Amino acid sequence: MEIREATYADLPAVEAVVAAAFDEELDGRTVLMMRALAATGAERASLVAVEGDEVVGHVGLSRGWVDARRELVEVLVLSPLSVSPDRQGGGIGTALVDAALRSAAERGAPAVFLEGAWSYYGARGFSPGASLGFERPSTRIPERAFQVALLPAHEPWMTGRLVYSEAFWATDTVGLRDPLLARVEERSARELP
Ligand SMILES: CC(C)(COP(=O)(O)OP(=O)(O)OC[C@H]1O[C@@H](n2cnc3c(N)ncnc32)[C@H](O)[C@@H]1OP(=O)(O)O)[C@@H](O)C(=O)NCCC(=O)NCCS
Repeated sequence: MEIREATYADLPAVEAVVAAAFDEELDGRTVLMMRALAATGAERASLVAVEGDEVVGHVGLSRGWVDARRELVEVLVLSPLSVSPDRQGGGIGTALVDAALRSAAERGAPAVFLEGAWSYYGARGFSPGASLGFERPSTRIPERAFQVALLPAHEPWMTGRLVYSEAFWATDTVGLRDPLLARVEERSARELP
């Protein structure tokens, strides 16, 4: 398995992997979100995991900002992360997260943010955003799902609210909505007394 920058020719295969991972027959918004990030110039990296000629995983990085007191700080948002359903559980997702963090550090980004399962990303370099002084772009992102990985370019003053690029709002892919949001909040209140 090799991880490399996606090319234009990879695009249909990338969209198919994302759609399969996120069950897009029901709801195609993740693919629309990726297209909107690219069309608005917010995309910063698109990495594919390839086995032979087959795209088996993908991760995207796009531009966001931390609204720090001193100045607006450009940061990266990791989304989406997708592995083909028949290849999940084999370490591809972990390798893509590692590659995305390396790529972000090489680009000089001070931090990478995401929304996702704490049990997954907490073991892969991420910490709860609130514990490091960051605020969520929406209160509909469960507190535990809002996570950040700080990179060498980060400086202590670079804290504040994360501002998402417009593509996430335009495709309504920020956080969760009821009734799922209420169910996730109830579950996490039970787990964290
Ligand atoms: C999440 C995803 C990218 C992980 O990729 P993967 O290649 O299967 O992951 P890895 O093989 O590196 O890691 C497997 C581990 O992740 C765990 N895992 C997989 N999906 C998880 C999830 N949604 N929440 C928590 N843990 C998860 C597995 O239980 C396994 O745990 P273990 O190492 O303790 O056995 C992949 O399952 C996927 O594409 N899911 C659908 C899309 C999605 O939910 N993307 C993430 C949105 S934030």
